[in-house]
Parts: sequence; C-alpha cells; structure tokens
Amino acid sequence: MFAWWSVFRFSAEVSFLKPFAPLCGAKVSGRCEHYRLMMLPRHIWPDTATISDDRLHLGGCDARALAATYGTPLYVFDEATLRGAMRACLAAFERQGLPFGVHYAAKALLNTALAQIVAQEGLGLDVVSGAELLVARRASLPMERVHFHGNAPGAAELERAVAWGVGAVVVDNLDELERLAALTAARERPQGVMLRVAPDIEASTHPAIATGGAGSKFGLLPETLDTAAARLRVSPGLRFLGLHAHIGSQIFDLEAFRATVAVLVDLAARLRARHGLTAEELSPGGGLGTPYLAEEAAPDVAAYAAALCASLRDRCAAHAMPLPRLTVEPGRSIVARAGVALYTVMGRKLAADGTIRYLHVDGGMADNPRPALYNARYTALLANCASAPPGPPVSVAGRYCESGDVLLRDVSLPPAQPGDLLAVATTGAYTLSMASAYNLAPRPAAVLVAEGRARLIQRRETEDDLLARDVPL
Ligand SMILES: Cc1ncc(COP(=O)(O)O)c(C=O)c1O
Repeated sequence: MFAWWSVFRFSAEVSFLKPFAPLCGAKVSGRCEHYRLMMLPRHIWPDTATISDDRLHLGGCDARALAATYGTPLYVFDEATLRGAMRACLAAFERQGLPFGVHYAAKALLNTALAQIVAQEGLGLDVVSGAELLVARRASLPMERVHFHGNAPGAAELERAVAWGVGAVVVDNLDELERLAALTAARERPQGVMLRVAPDIEASTHPAIATGGAGSKFGLLPETLDTAAARLRVSPGLRFLGLHAHIGSQIFDLEAFRATVAVLVDLAARLRARHGLTAEELSPGGGLGTPYLAEEAAPDVAAYAAALCASLRDRCAAHAMPLPRLTVEPGRSIVARAGVALYTVMGRKLAADGTIRYLHVDGGMADNPRPALYNARYTALLANCASAPPGPPVSVAGRYCESGDVLLRDVSLPPAQPGDLLAVATTGAYTLSMASAYNLAPRPAAVLVAEGRARLIQRRETEDDLLARDVPL
C-alpha cells in the first residue's frame, strides 16, 4: 500500500510519486501506518527529509524531538539543502564561463549563521538596512562582497555602508544619488555605485512582488538615466560600476529574465555612447521561483544561468561591448526549500457532523505572513503521524486575531488531534524575515540541522524582549 496522501494537497495521483514507491514498506499500527523509510519529494521538502517509523526527520533529527527541545512554532533549516542550493547556483554560472557573482538576497532570511554559510560558500550578500550590514560584519563577510540596496535608506545606514566599504551601493532614485554624492564628496577612495533601473518588464507573478514595471516604486526610469549619469560624472566620490534591475520574485518565466538582461545591456550601451560611462557589472537581480506544491515543477537553475548568459553574450555582441560581470541575487531559490515550519495543533473547529473544519496551530500569520499577503499556498504533513490516511479536506488556522490568518486552505491531512505536530514545507523564505510580534506573541526560534545534530541559530523571542521597548507613562 502506498500512503502519500498526507503530502499532497489534492490527490495522490501524481506521476512522480511512482519512483518513490519501492522505498515504502508498510505495517499497520493504531492511527497511523508505519513506514520504515520514505523519501519525500525533493523539490518541496529538504534533501534530507525522510519519514522513518511514521515520523518526519530533517537533517537526521526527529522533528518531534526538535519540537520537544526547542518548542513550537519552530523553523528548522536543513544545512545540506541550503549549501546545496548555493553550490548549484554557483556551479550553474561557473559552467557558463563568464565573469559572474552570486549575491544571496538577505531579505529572504538573514541571521548570522546563514551569513556565515554565505561567506563560507563564496557568495556575496545583498542587504537593505544598517542592521543587515551589521549581521554581514558579524559573519565576517568581506564587505567588498556586500551590495547595499534600498529605495529609502536612512542617512546613518548610507553612512555605514560607505564607511564600511561595501562593494556597491545600488542607487534607486535621483534623490538617493544626490545624498550619496554629498556624503562621499570628500572621499579619497570613491564609492562604487550601480544604478537601479525600471526595465518596464511585467513578469508573471503576484502583483505585490512584481517590481519590473514602469509603474513600480523601484528604480530609475530610462528617461532619467541621463540625469543620473550626468550627476555621476561630476561626483568625485562616486565610481560608476554598472546597472541593476530586479523584476520581481517567484518568477518561472526565463524569457522575462532574458529580456531584463537585454534591457540592461541596451541601456549600458546608451550610457557609454552618450556619457562615456562603462558598465563593468550588470545585475538582473533575483527572482527565480520556487515550487511550493507537489504538482509544481522546480525551475532548472542551469537553464536560468544559461538563459541569462546567452542574453548577455548576444546583446553585448550586438553593441560590440565587452562582456561585463553578471551578478545575480537569488533569495527564495536558495533558502525556501531548506526551511520547514513546525507547529503544534492546539485545537479544532468541528462541523455539526464532527468533521474537522479548522485545525488551530500555535503560530500563523505573524511568523508566516505569505498566505495572508499573497494567497500563498503550502504543502504540509503531520510530522508525528506522517503516513496516516487523510480525512476530509481541512484548513489550518493560525493563532492570531484575523480571519485571514489561515496558513493552509482545504488540504489533505490525516484527522489531527490537539498535540499533533504539523510540518509545513518550503517555509524558509520570506517567513521569519517578515515576521511580526502581532498580538505580542513571541517570534519563533530557528535551528539548523545536519547529520543528526541541531544547532540553535536564533533563539525564541521572550516576553522580556517584547516588553523591552515598552515605556509606561
Ligand atoms: C533587489 C532585489 N534583489 C533580489 C531579491 C531576491 O528575490 P528572490 O528572493 O525572489 O530571489 C529581491 C526580492 O524581491 C530584491 O528586491
């Protein structure tokens, strides 16, 4: 018998299940059927995720034991998956034979341990705040591998970025350029800058995370690029490095990335012709999509790298331009699949006939706002009873005081009881980094797992932490 129900949202009739079938050997026991060892689909779950004796294991650690030790909600990060994604991205660009850089986008998730892994694996880092810069420094990440972004950075943040010698400040608008020019006017060593442009490319993704259109709040319109170039030419404290664009996140269409590179090269050629500025570096940003459901296909990072590099080669040849360095900024595609969120089922809402309408869990929109913000969908299983047959579709509601606090809608799960442990896959990106303390519920802890060992990389927020900024009258 083949029990994959708990993993799938709609149906177990999914063709890629078949290769896993030989790994399953069933024996029935109580509420759950036990399997000696079951691998989970790699494009949704971490590389090391297995179901052994009916329980989810991550990085060789029993999810139930992790929850017992660290409490829930708990975010578990699989080190092998994380490093594997970084290496795959580097290798994909390496194979293209062009000068390149891979900068992990810190906004997807940042803590010092992760920044240390980024440093060890040879990636750079994109940051957007002074505190993200601090984390980069704590992790001893060489500052020349850090790019500082933002459409409205504070004065102190810009000062820190310049004083610490970041590799580039990626300038979003003319006012920021003006501030940066004033800040660096007396510098002996000019600060490298890239100009972020709005390429007018509407990629297919949720409107809230589409950033490439002309109407987006981000980036210089091509019409204002000449003004920026003129300012750069009379700014002795600034050195033009190149152009940047980012068309959005959760994008699967390689054509949109290819078009972005073409726009960047065309604009670089224009700057060279009109202003004598040479772009040494071009960056089409990040944005490569990640599957969240079993039926979604994983994008091919090798095809992504090939598409970007082919576009760069073609357009540069058309303009007789030397090849600049290509820098990409993946966030989600590096960290999303490495993360699994663990929640305890606290209660249920039952229909009159006793069927379960909602499971209530001890986290929700404050640690993972993506369902509420973008109608994001997820895949889940019961970590303590991973191969039990499913009951009727059920929704998983968070603990927060909003009707929109529903993490999963109408998913197939075994009939759960209070105390069961829910594992939600692909929760590494844009969850903890966007977490809030809504309802004054402390933010979750995060652990890194590898080879049977778990290390706390972010402790759970405490009530004292929450009240530390609270000032009584
Ligand atoms: C400028 C910039 N670069 C990179 C990224 C990372 O995007 P993703 O996590 O989709 O790869 C973002 C996020 O949207 C971004 O704004």
